[in-house]
Amino acid sequence: MAAMAGQQQRQQKGVTEQEEIDDVQQGPIPVEQLQTSGIAAVDVKKLKDAGLCTVEAVAYSPRKELLQIKGISDAKVDKIIEAASKLVPLGFTSASQLHAQRLEIIQITSGSRELDKILEGGIETGSITELYGEFRSGKTQLCHTLCVTCQLPLDQGGGEGKALYIDAEGTFRPQRLLQIADRFALMIVDSATALYRTDFSGRGELSARQMHLAKFLRSLQKLADEFGVAVVITNQVVSQVDGSAMFAGPQVKPIGGNIMAHASTTRLALRKGRAEERICKVISSPCLAEAEARFQISPEGVTDVKD
Ligand code: GTP
Ligand code: MG
Repeated sequence: MAAMAGQQQRQQKGVTEQEEIDDVQQGPIPVEQLQTSGIAAVDVKKLKDAGLCTVEAVAYSPRKELLQIKGISDAKVDKIIEAASKLVPLGFTSASQLHAQRLEIIQITSGSRELDKILEGGIETGSITELYGEFRSGKTQLCHTLCVTCQLPLDQGGGEGKALYIDAEGTFRPQRLLQIADRFALMIVDSATALYRTDFSGRGELSARQMHLAKFLRSLQKLADEFGVAVVITNQVVSQVDGSAMFAGPQVKPIGGNIMAHASTTRLALRKGRAEERICKVISSPCLAEAEARFQISPEGVTDVKD
């Protein structure tokens, strides 16, 4: 992304950190900037340790959350909020401002032209895209291809940034992600819900599971918002075995319930077609039509169907 390219240039020129902070005014503001408004360095460090690495993150945090940070008193919270809201405009956004923000969104190519067409260019930066489908439907393959294409130059459908791939079969702490996210164009969590299937069981734990999932998705949303990262999460499905399945054939639905549905801006369903062919359908999106596209899994990753 442009901000990242700039960062590299600055590193080459050996510009000091303060100059760099002054320079990156367009993107998110590093939390260190609060020091210029009279917040002590130790307090800035406390905010950072609590996962609030940008002034935006501080400004958008509820007061209650700031109060929970160790060593930040009531009076300090007031000072911090005041300093943050001077740097980050809170309140309403005008339509033209919003339009300008939308222009900064980059589309990362999926590798298949036909698929890019229904996505109007590819996977968007700055929001969460969810891929769900049965095993072998191509979720992981599509993620792997995106990891490659996101590093391409902008004019080739890339994002000029790095990719961060989290295979959620292992363990990881979402809080740590917040601290490194500004260096990435694309972040993938494959599969975001796998952990929840194994770590929580039964209806008794359902609400604990949904709450945990909601928090996790919130932190991903923050990454997308603050750093303009394209976040892609994959999700597994369950077969629906209720009455309707008898008439309509086997039906699948993504797991994670409403919490998952609301968190993802764009939901794409993948399913298997003939042989290597796969079909992607736009299930929900604020701006895309509910179209379908065919693509293929080949040795190069995701490509157009080669007839
Ligand atoms: P789960 O993670 O199990 O839920 O599945 P997934 O949706 O992530 O499936 P994945 O993306 O791993 O797709 C695997 C499919 O890709 C399988 O059907 C493989 O046969 C196919 N595949 C993987 N590599 C190649 C390849 O190099 N060439 C071809 N033709 N197919 C491949
Ligand atoms: Mg997979």
